[in-house]
Amino acid sequence: MLKVDSVHASYSGIRALKGVSLKVEDGEMVALIGPNGAGKSTLLNCISGVVPLSEGAIALSGQPITGMSPWNVARQGLQQVPEGRQVWPEMTVLENLRLGATALRGRPASYTLERIFELFPILSERQRQLAGSLSGGQQQMLAIGRALMGSPRLLLLDEPSLGLAPLVVKQVFDALTALNREGLTILLVEQNSTLALGSTHRAYVIEQGKIVHEGFSSELKDDPQVVAHYLGHAAA
Ligand SMILES: Nc1ncnc2c1ncn2[C@@H]1O[C@H](COP(=O)(O)OP(=O)(O)O)[C@@H](O)[C@H]1O
Ligand SMILES: [Mg+2]
Repeated sequence: MLKVDSVHASYSGIRALKGVSLKVEDGEMVALIGPNGAGKSTLLNCISGVVPLSEGAIALSGQPITGMSPWNVARQGLQQVPEGRQVWPEMTVLENLRLGATALRGRPASYTLERIFELFPILSERQRQLAGSLSGGQQQMLAIGRALMGSPRLLLLDEPSLGLAPLVVKQVFDALTALNREGLTILLVEQNSTLALGSTHRAYVIEQGKIVHEGFSSELKDDPQVVAHYLGHAAA
């Protein structure tokens, strides 16, 4: 579904990604974990076309998307739930969801409003409320719902658990797991490594712009090096 090949990216000469390669197979749920500043958001933004690559290539279902504009990437069925949710605060829940569907451009809608309201009933109750008045957890659900309205083949999520209460994190991750079981391919960035490794098939660990570990999430959870560096930290 996704192939990232030796991607480099810089901000004004400061190298944020130094040759990152990874892949996500059709139907997989894959995690990218690593400390703050490791380059996780930069990689997602390179995939979605927001940050330009200085070297390397990215393909979606075998089709190159390197250098494609973010709006065209979205129309290929690659939807991103950005760090910090980024819902439109002055628009209602329903308006935010409907705007997500502008990425369809003739592709069939794979998720209806009804399905999104079934996943997140609170959004149905609050449809006419301004998005800015929602709690952080509700905004996260809205950001996911908005991405689903664009009929993703691949869904990218940047730190969906950040700042949310444990019960809300569970609701969000239960919904993501359900979506993946129905066939949606997911690439998830998380600083909460325990949570990420507990809910995905495979994972990559990124540190200072380089992948330093990769493997099955169930095995990485028990890998002494990964445990010492990431899980101990996350649990502390
Ligand atoms: N817009 C930006 N301008 C300059 N430097 C940035 C920008 N965004 C991120 N960086 C730097 O790039 C590196 C990777 O950041 P980022 O991808 O946001 O990491 P993560 O998401 O893993 O916390 C960090 O050193 C960060 O300071
Ligand atoms: Mg980030």
